[in-house]
Amino acid sequence: MQVSPSIIATEFLKLSQTLNLLNESEADYIHCDIMDGNFVPNLTFGMTIFAEIAQFSQKPLEAHLMIQNPEKYIPDFQKAGAQIITIHYEGNLHVHRTLNQIKSLGCQAGLAINPSTPIECVLDLICEVDIICLMSVNPGFYGQPFIPRTLSKIQRLKNLILQEKSSALIEVDGGVTFENIPNIAAAGADIVVAGNTVFRHPKYTIHQAIAELKKF
Ligand code: DX5
Ligand code: ZN
Repeated sequence: MQVSPSIIATEFLKLSQTLNLLNESEADYIHCDIMDGNFVPNLTFGMTIFAEIAQFSQKPLEAHLMIQNPEKYIPDFQKAGAQIITIHYEGNLHVHRTLNQIKSLGCQAGLAINPSTPIECVLDLICEVDIICLMSVNPGFYGQPFIPRTLSKIQRLKNLILQEKSSALIEVDGGVTFENIPNIAAAGADIVVAGNTVFRHPKYTIHQAIAELKKF
């Protein structure tokens, strides 16, 4: 299992220490949740902090854009050092065009769908993207419970990817724990995003939590 720790769950006043720990960990990516307070009911951080993170990070950075009009900011995120840029299917008028904009800049293109969006919506995009991100919580906050129906969604998406001969990876974002990771892996996920489990687990250090999730 590839693991992408979601740093909005970390203590931001210790961000440079956290990034040093992540650099030395088995993390495959670092997941940066960019929220504008409009697309989702929360506000996180923007370009300035993202660019600083990119300077520190020795891991590929994923910018998960939960913002309106992402096409306006994609060039800046690419320039700042994003390797993966993930936009949402919902709320974007020209998803195909925006995904091509991401790829034309040399980044991997991710497409995220919310819990209430059927996988059929991504059928005509499934061969255009590198990653399909299934939101297993309603976007906006870390520490929320995993939505159980996501497991069947992972399985159905896996079948669709095979049927369409797509090379897209399945990423699951939200509410991933040591208890549900076995079923998430068995259902066919390739990457898990984890915030609470990695940064706020009562027993495991960041390194231990990442290594534990990677075992599946
Ligand atoms: C939610 C974000 C997720 C979230 C993951 O809107 O996209 O990345 O921060 O954090 P946990 O693993 O705590 O749900
Ligand atoms: Zn996210």
